[in-house]
Amino acid sequence: MTAIADAAASRGEDPSDADETPPELSFFRDFHPGAADMRADVLEGLSRPQKGIPPKYFYDQRGSALFDRICELDEYYVTRSELSILRRIGPELAAHVGPEANVLEFGSGSSVKIRTVLDALERPYLYVGVDISREHLLAACRDLARDYPDLTVGAICADFTEPFQIPEREFGERWRIGFFPGSTIGNFEPEAAKNVLRAMRAELRPDDSLLIGVDLQKDAARLEAAYDDAEGVTAAFNLNVLTHINRELDGDIPEDAFEHLARYNPDLGRVEMHLRALRDIEFTVAGQRFAMKAGETIHTENSHKYTREGFDALAAEAGFRPLEYWTDAEGLFSVRLMRAV
Ligand code: AVI
Repeated sequence: MTAIADAAASRGEDPSDADETPPELSFFRDFHPGAADMRADVLEGLSRPQKGIPPKYFYDQRGSALFDRICELDEYYVTRSELSILRRIGPELAAHVGPEANVLEFGSGSSVKIRTVLDALERPYLYVGVDISREHLLAACRDLARDYPDLTVGAICADFTEPFQIPEREFGERWRIGFFPGSTIGNFEPEAAKNVLRAMRAELRPDDSLLIGVDLQKDAARLEAAYDDAEGVTAAFNLNVLTHINRELDGDIPEDAFEHLARYNPDLGRVEMHLRALRDIEFTVAGQRFAMKAGETIHTENSHKYTREGFDALAAEAGFRPLEYWTDAEGLFSVRLMRAV
C-alpha cells in the first residue's frame, strides 16, 4: 500500500473513491475543469477593434508538434538556456529543498525538465502533475511512474491558473516545491500573471518553494529572431491557429491571406505575435461574418520578458519572496527559486 493509500485508509477513506486511478499512479483527482469555450472566445476576440485570438488555441495536435520543433530551433534560446540552468543548479536546489519533498508541476509534460529536478533532489517523495488536459497529463505521469519506481506519482486534472484545492491528504506534511518552467508565465499579462502566481501560492504553505523559469528582457533583434525563425517554424505555428479555428468552428479564413509578424514592444516589455492581412478579406467563423482591411492584424500572443527586479516585484504581490536567481552563461534566461511567505 502506498503511503497515501495508507494515510487515507487510516482515516477510513478509500483513495480510489473519487476518480478512476490508472494502475501506475497512486492517485488521480479530476476537478473537471470546464471545457474552454472556443466558439465564444474566438467570436469575442475577432469582434474587437484590435482583433485577437487567445494563445491557448495554438495547441491542437499540429500546434503542439510545431511548438516542440520551436524548442529545438537555434534562434529559440528559451528551452536550451533553461535546461542548461536546471542541469547546473542541482546541488543548490537540493540543499534548499531538502530530502523527501513533494514536487508539484504546474502544466505537466516538460518531461526532460522535470527529470532534471527529480534527479537533483534527494529522494523526492511525491510527484504530482497538474494539467488541464487529462490525456496528456495521464500519459506524462504514467511515463514518470514507470521511470521512477521509488517515487509516488499522482495526477490532478485542473486549471492551475484558477484557484483549486489539492486535497490535503495527498500531500501530508512534507515540504512542497512547485515547478513552473518554460516562461509560460510570460504569456499572461502582468495582472493575470499575478493571479496565476496567487493560484499556485494557494497550493503551497509558508516556506514551501516555487521554481519558475522566467525569460529576460534583451535586445529586440535577438527576441524578434527567436519569434520569427529563418526556417519559418514559428510562422507555421502562428498561422496554424487559423487552421485550427477553421476546422473546429466551421470557418473559411483564407490562411494564405495572412503573414506572420513578431515584434518586440519595448514599452510593455513583450514580444507580440500577430497575423497580418495581406489584402482586404472577408470570412465566416461559426456562422458570423468578419471583414479585415489589408494591413490589419489579429493579435495572437504576448510573451512578456522581465528584469530580475520586475519579476520579483510581481511575485511579491502574489506572496513569494526571492531566494535564488540563476541565469545561463549568456544571461538570456532566468530560473528563480522563490519562497512562499
Ligand atoms: C509557451 N510559451 C512560453 C512560448 C513563448 O515563448 O512565449 C510560446 C511561443 N510562441 C512562439 N514561440 C514560442
